[in-house]
Amino acid sequence: MIIRYWLSIWLMCLGLLAHADMPLLFDGAKKTIYPAAQLRSHPAVRRIEVPVDVAYRQPMSYDALPLAWLLKAQGVLPGDTIQFKAADGFVMSMPAALLLHQQRDKAQAWLAIEPDEKKWPPLKGEGGPSAGPFYLVWLNPKLGNIGPEQWPYQIARISVDMPPARRWPHIVPAADLPASHPARAGFELFVKHCFACHTLNHAGEARLGPDLNLPLNPTEYFREGVLRQFIRNNQNVRSWPDAKMPRFGPDVLTERELGELLAYLQHMAGRKIK
Ligand code: HEC
Repeated sequence: MIIRYWLSIWLMCLGLLAHADMPLLFDGAKKTIYPAAQLRSHPAVRRIEVPVDVAYRQPMSYDALPLAWLLKAQGVLPGDTIQFKAADGFVMSMPAALLLHQQRDKAQAWLAIEPDEKKWPPLKGEGGPSAGPFYLVWLNPKLGNIGPEQWPYQIARISVDMPPARRWPHIVPAADLPASHPARAGFELFVKHCFACHTLNHAGEARLGPDLNLPLNPTEYFREGVLRQFIRNNQNVRSWPDAKMPRFGPDVLTERELGELLAYLQHMAGRKIK
């Protein structure tokens, strides 16, 4: 308890410090604080080229550590779930199995480490924060069907977590729903693409966007066509300079997947927690 308390104070300080030379907190079987300088000088660090970078939308090159190295050093197993927490409230989790591959013919996860002397460019406009100090980037992302939300940046903490469906039972479809029901596939898509920013039934840790079931579910107040349009590109529905929700084009969610996602949201409208 006391350790948790101090850790949360510490994480709050991290949020405030945002861009000083922040360490990385690894919260697993053991808790480890990795100073950025220690990770930068690790012998497994390589210079890697990322041709299609999600955060910067241009080819980038990074000094990066294979994430598998860090996970293995922490005794992470393929059946575990790994959670990434960013300084801005973005919280996403992924099966460890995806993150442990190091083969060339698989999607490989690398932890890019911002250099001390030459910071990365700001993400938006002049003077804003960069994707540092730690940013999860992928080589061969297509081979692992890695979506844009699976590139967390400004990472402050990596932890070993339960799978979302176990940790957050209030986001799970009804047990008697047939296995072939589209809402089941939609649930997986929701966890992969939306749960990093939105809670649902107040479950989850994300703090960036509104809850998608309470008090009302968007399927209750958006016409279906408009909701589809909103998810595809919310700027086509309403637009302002500080909008933070990304677009989900057909390269990320096919028409069929979008239908499954809406089936899940509709299904959850009937499963509000009291
Ligand atoms: C990177 C964070 C992020 C991700 C990922 C994300 N959203 Fe959002 N979403 C937001 C934010 C922030 C808003 C509030 C409006 C804004 O700033 O654009 C929002 C607004 C919405 C709204 C409008 C709610 C309302 O009542 O105004 C809906 C519906 C929605 N998101 C659905 C989704 C779905 C479905 C997904 C997954 C396919 C998703 N979002 C993924 C951040 C995100």
